[in-house]
Amino acid sequence: MSPFQYVRELVVYLRGLPGASGYGSTTTAEQVTEGLDLQAYTAIVTGATSGIGQEAARVLAKRGARVVFAVRNAEKAQKVMSLILEETPSARLEFFHLNLASLKSVRVFAAEFLSRDLPLNILVNNAGLLLKKFDLTEDGLERTFATNHLGHFLLTNLLLERMKETADKSGIEGRIVVVGSEATRLAYRDAIQFDRLHDAKSYWSVPAYGQSKLCNVLHTKELANRLQAERANVTANVLHPGCIDTNFGKGEFPFSFNKYVEELCFWVSSSFLKSIPQAAATPCYVATNAGLKGITGEYFTDCNISPPATRKLIDMELAARLWKYSEELTASSRSANELGGHVESLSSGNL
Ligand SMILES: NC(=O)c1ccc[n+]([C@@H]2O[C@H](COP(=O)([O-])OP(=O)(O)OC[C@H]3O[C@@H](n4cnc5c(N)ncnc54)[C@H](OP(=O)(O)O)[C@@H]3O)[C@@H](O)[C@H]2O)c1
Repeated sequence: MSPFQYVRELVVYLRGLPGASGYGSTTTAEQVTEGLDLQAYTAIVTGATSGIGQEAARVLAKRGARVVFAVRNAEKAQKVMSLILEETPSARLEFFHLNLASLKSVRVFAAEFLSRDLPLNILVNNAGLLLKKFDLTEDGLERTFATNHLGHFLLTNLLLERMKETADKSGIEGRIVVVGSEATRLAYRDAIQFDRLHDAKSYWSVPAYGQSKLCNVLHTKELANRLQAERANVTANVLHPGCIDTNFGKGEFPFSFNKYVEELCFWVSSSFLKSIPQAAATPCYVATNAGLKGITGEYFTDCNISPPATRKLIDMELAARLWKYSEELTASSRSANELGGHVESLSSGNL
């Protein structure tokens, strides 16, 4: 992108000028769903206990969708669900436990959800984190990659048949919405460090986060191609929500070595940040807008299709390699059948 284009994009962003969709950076999730009746829809939102996921869940529920909270903290889920019910007493909300950093938890979640015979129209892969320090999951995988990409990769694969069946039965296009980030630009120089991804010596927090978000984009592109090839009535798109002051990265950024420095950094950048309702607009738009029928494999920012910022984002050889690598990592974890009684014992519930 030329410097001129950068400046132009910055002006469009700061002034909230609408793009081709009629929406821009200042549009909110309520505005993009205004007038929609989503009674016929069931949506799963990962990370619905905070920030963008919480707002997307609230707005989808307000418009009538049954919203499944796929979250790791039951107490937080109950609080958020209560707030939504206060505002929308008719909201249909369900809670299923999901820890994306555990392949076993993802399998249990999927087995439990599928056992309920619920339809599935919308899957919002939103949960994510950035970690200052290197950490491994119980599966021996680098935690940022495992949470942001691999957990969602497995989750999507396990729910895909249900999404296709629902789309066939209902005639409503299924939508997989992946919350990525412009931080893909900050991934390691060699993009995805396949040969040392789970090695503490190669870890650097921000590039590791960028790498996981690049995985989100490439996963979506490859998935979209596969869905198109089999003519499934399900689309997959990825988006950058904007930069927002949520719980995201608190205490984890390189500048977070001191609470006051962190607060100062957020304060200095506050005029460039979106509000949470604005940040949830793009996921809600991509999940529900009728004008996007058949649109798949695209990258959205501020509710508009955006050209790829770097060549890495459209590197389909890299996408195919990532898919194979992710399949290998998830294939080695135990299947839902092998988990047996654990499925019943894990918590779930609704309000
Ligand atoms: N904030 C930004 O400026 C920004 C910019 C670009 C992209 N994004 C992306 O936007 C998405 C949402 O971020 P946010 O800003 O809304 O952050 P947030 O307020 O920190 O919310 C993150 C959500 O992810 C959940 N989560 C984290 N690890 C999980 C795990 N192992 N299993 C299940 N859930 C887990 C959190 O659950 P708990 O409540 O239990 O912690 C929380 O609900 C992320 O994918 C992030 O990468 C954010």
